[in-house]
Amino acid sequence: MAARASLTESEQAFVLAQRAARLATVNVSGQPSVVPVCYACDGSRFYTPLDEKPKRVAPADLRRVRDIAANTAVSLVIDRYDDDWSRLGFVQVRGQAELLAPGAPGHAEALRLLRERYVQYRTMALEELPVIAITPESVVSWGPALAGNEDAASIWTQPGRGLDFVPLAQHRRSVRAFQDRPVPRAALETMLEAARWAPSPHGRQPWRFAVLTTTVAKARLAEAMGADWQSTLEMDGQPPNIIATRLAKSHERIRTAPALILACLYLEDLDRYPDAARQRAEEVMAIQSLGAAIQNMLLAAYSLGLDTGWMCAPLFSPATVRAALDLNATLLPHALIPVGYMAREPRRRPHRPIDELVVRWE
Ligand SMILES: Cc1cc2nc3c(=O)[nH]c(=O)nc-3n(C[C@H](O)[C@H](O)[C@H](O)COP(=O)(O)O)c2cc1C
Repeated sequence: MAARASLTESEQAFVLAQRAARLATVNVSGQPSVVPVCYACDGSRFYTPLDEKPKRVAPADLRRVRDIAANTAVSLVIDRYDDDWSRLGFVQVRGQAELLAPGAPGHAEALRLLRERYVQYRTMALEELPVIAITPESVVSWGPALAGNEDAASIWTQPGRGLDFVPLAQHRRSVRAFQDRPVPRAALETMLEAARWAPSPHGRQPWRFAVLTTTVAKARLAEAMGADWQSTLEMDGQPPNIIATRLAKSHERIRTAPALILACLYLEDLDRYPDAARQRAEEVMAIQSLGAAIQNMLLAAYSLGLDTGWMCAPLFSPATVRAALDLNATLLPHALIPVGYMAREPRRRPHRPIDELVVRWE
């Protein structure tokens, strides 16, 4: 276990997949103390808030705060125990802690990261409370869960947002602007794993996916779809300035998404019928199933702390999308799913109450 001052990619992925850490501090007479903490990590520093959870003393009198005032050396352990010992792992960070006062550089960003990970913090008034920032000086890790990329998928089995299913479904949003932060490959694999278990007509799994993470592939798709859309908008008689704005926006969305998953319908394994009505029903079932597979992916991503969007543009330019990505003619592009970490909170559209949706219950 060689010590480094920065986290490897698999350590970062592991750290983001866990929910709680143990923070060790020492007091002025060298007496150690360990407390469980909620935390966020921006890839280099760790942040833990002094929050509103019921405590016996005021935040400034907390033992950890007094300890850090006396001695800035701290240690943070993020671990996962599982009775299946092939899934064990821990990351241990030793470093320097400082208190970020409200308004100090980094304080607002730390709160944003913490609120992204813990929905409970979104409604807590943390603005007036300091945040502890920990700058690693040495990082060590151990465990099969951190062994390398091929094993990394297993670390994602613990939900990053720690929500039960209904809150998970309620909190997911269609996000249209992402941070410039890569999506771990393991997360994309977990999304596809979730898709794989969607219900499908006759169990035929009529969906296939193309995953795009390189700048080149994203740009190629954006260019091709943009050209197609431009001709459609011109055909619709839209003014050139509106066309230019809409194209630029769509191009930007595709280019800046850290990862994209193109969801395609695949009808080749479905039953064939002599009459058009049954054939159409068979295809509709496949489309319904593709929607289920996509929703599985969106919720899996959300559970991992990621955000997603949904772009229907490929549905309108299937041949162009296939040509741009060199896809087989049997694949019918339906939806483009951008994946990443939210940069901007989307507008919440009102959702109808249950009694407007259920037309009969007897
Ligand atoms: C089939 C389908 C196609 C969609 N296409 C787009 C799209 O092209 N662009 C977009 O910004 N959002 C698109 N959305 C996302 C919806 O706008 C979004 O789900 C809706 O506004 C509700 O917001 P929410 O997902 O945040 O709850 C699509 C959603 C579905 C189900």
